[in-house]
Amino acid sequence: MSEAVGKPFNRVDGRLKVTGRAHYPSEIPTENIAHAVLIQSTIAKGRIQTIDTSVVERSPGVLGILTHLNAPRLTTRGEGFPPQVPLLQDDVVQYNGQHIGVVIAESLEQAAYAASLVKVDYAVEQAATDFKRELSHAIAPEPGPGGSPDSMRGDVAQGLTMAAVQIDQTYTTPNEHHNPLGLTAVTAVWEGERLILYDTTQGVHSMRRTLAGTLGIPIENIQVIARFVGGAFGATLLPQPHVTLAAVAARQVGQPVKLVLTREQMYTSHGYRPQTSQHLVLGATAEGRLTGIVHEALADTSQLQDRNERITSATQMLYQCPNVTTIRRLVRLDKGTPTPMRAPGEATGIFALECAMDELAYALQLDPIELRLRNYADADPENGLPWSSKALRECYELGAQRFGWQRRTPEPGSMRDGRYLIGWGMASSTYPYLGNAASARAKIWLDGSALVQSGATDIGPGTYTAMTQIAADALGLAAERVRFELGDTNLPDAPSQGGSRIVISVGPAVQGAAIAVRNQMIQRAIADQASPLYGANPQEIAIENGYLFVAQDRARGETYTDILARQELPEVEATFDFNPGEEEQFSKHAFGAQFAEVRVDPDLGEVRVTRFVGVYAAGRIINPKTARSQMIGGIVGGIGMALMEETRMDHRYGRYTNANIAEYLVPTHADIPDIDVTFVDEDDPHVNPLGAKGIGEVCLVGVAPAIANAIYHATGKRIRELPITPDKLL
Ligand code: MOS
Repeated sequence: MSEAVGKPFNRVDGRLKVTGRAHYPSEIPTENIAHAVLIQSTIAKGRIQTIDTSVVERSPGVLGILTHLNAPRLTTRGEGFPPQVPLLQDDVVQYNGQHIGVVIAESLEQAAYAASLVKVDYAVEQAATDFKRELSHAIAPEPGPGGSPDSMRGDVAQGLTMAAVQIDQTYTTPNEHHNPLGLTAVTAVWEGERLILYDTTQGVHSMRRTLAGTLGIPIENIQVIARFVGGAFGATLLPQPHVTLAAVAARQVGQPVKLVLTREQMYTSHGYRPQTSQHLVLGATAEGRLTGIVHEALADTSQLQDRNERITSATQMLYQCPNVTTIRRLVRLDKGTPTPMRAPGEATGIFALECAMDELAYALQLDPIELRLRNYADADPENGLPWSSKALRECYELGAQRFGWQRRTPEPGSMRDGRYLIGWGMASSTYPYLGNAASARAKIWLDGSALVQSGATDIGPGTYTAMTQIAADALGLAAERVRFELGDTNLPDAPSQGGSRIVISVGPAVQGAAIAVRNQMIQRAIADQASPLYGANPQEIAIENGYLFVAQDRARGETYTDILARQELPEVEATFDFNPGEEEQFSKHAFGAQFAEVRVDPDLGEVRVTRFVGVYAAGRIINPKTARSQMIGGIVGGIGMALMEETRMDHRYGRYTNANIAEYLVPTHADIPDIDVTFVDEDDPHVNPLGAKGIGEVCLVGVAPAIANAIYHATGKRIRELPITPDKLL
């Protein structure tokens, strides 16, 4: 039965948000709250020789200051933390913007002023922060749990000798920062030995496990709450050090402490998207069949942790090709550690791969879609497994149709609109299915309404709404009769909102809990002599709007309320643990096709994206309205990646120079055209009982290469270095 799933429901939390009644972690009404402000290093490498806090202590309103001289000893072995994350444990500075102190005062202004008075003398050491200069020092990262990230199938040297045409190019992508609208915030409240922490985290349970480790206190003494988060895109996926420092500061001053990052601190307190330099070699026969692919990706990381993104993974599986070698190397720099940013790895890796495919299409004088179809993989070419589902062909077809691709003239510069050059480009997209274990609880109350809970988070995509729909259908209730709660470690364990994994993990848990409690009610009714359903076959019982009846005999039935009232029960509850299982009989991925139209001013090099079409095959879509909105957001992110986003650094100081949204450019409304989003009808029976594959990142992957390819089509200029700014086109 599917009444709610698949329908374009409005956000169930929309009214709370637009009326300001949704309290974000920076707005928790708390008595007697103190304000914390971070002090950050102004050098990239060295030691703190002296840190003079005497003036600070006398400054008005100051309640306390923490530095490495007085901070409590903490363990940095909390889950999710790099091995040597800076938590004020010593005088070592490893990047510019590292937290070296926290000032706590009665007001935010007093704390900020006092923090500005701190005098630090450093013993400065030579820092290396310039990726391009350090490329020759790239290292092979430590093999992770899945072994080496490098891969080899077939014999690529042999494959390339068979090629009639070869593309051999290097593509680069810069550091990017997430810049969610909502500033990262934490409010820490101690009640005796118990810590209650309101945080803009993407995962309350993962945050709690980290804090228990770093603070060295039992996990049950910590409650983490994140009911609403104003965006994140990966910035708060992994626990970051300032959260621990806020908890320590609150304990030190003996009152609740709120810490809100400034926009500038958002660039140094979280990680960033690593920059990459990617060498791609594609070889193909004259008919356009790939004979060999080499993808060698270098990315930056910190001295603290080797963060190694899946930059080359999609190259292993996206096209049929017998000979593929992928290599990943890291360049350790004196800067903060990178962190996932929407579609980490795929977004940058597929930029290189899909630009190279476009270059190959031109070299072969083949239509870019035709080239991709000639290399279409009907099974996963890396492991031979069948796809759980793959409707990429349909994505190409539908996208081409909606875009009007057949009217494209292939010659660069051949399409014009007055003095403007028009370009049409496309690219493929894919993102793996990353389902996790998750748990949920469902209750039916005496009044016939239901409460369903799981300790997931909703950073904006519409999780509250999708889960309400899933639960409503499984309970046989109207969605208005179901309340869904999340964002609290008192609720059942659930994964973090990252890797497109909430609907595909928490969704089945919610569905399972709802079915379990519904079945309990059915069992109660059929075993109860006073019930009209007494003795009925449970398989034959249907539910509509909370009315349980024998499917063949609608009159023979009763409501949830009838059952609970007669049995004098205030509620009935069930929990469910979803486990996606280990056995791999299928290769599971979402797919998509991205189409861009650009208009380029030939005199100014200005690029406008004038149309965008995205078509996605991501299994069942729970809510087409919130899903469409999420895809639009991903495409907007991709437009930013293609044309604007780049965090710049002054390598004399290892310091970001554009750590604000005036100079770090993101698209505004004026930069965004009408975006046409379509989902291919797909229901994947092999991924989970919902048939959903996850949509949060497949929408961003492939956008930047589609635009880069459109720019080439417009101008004949192949820009292999993101972002594609006007200077590169003149
Ligand atoms: Mo997203 S980068 O998986 O939080």
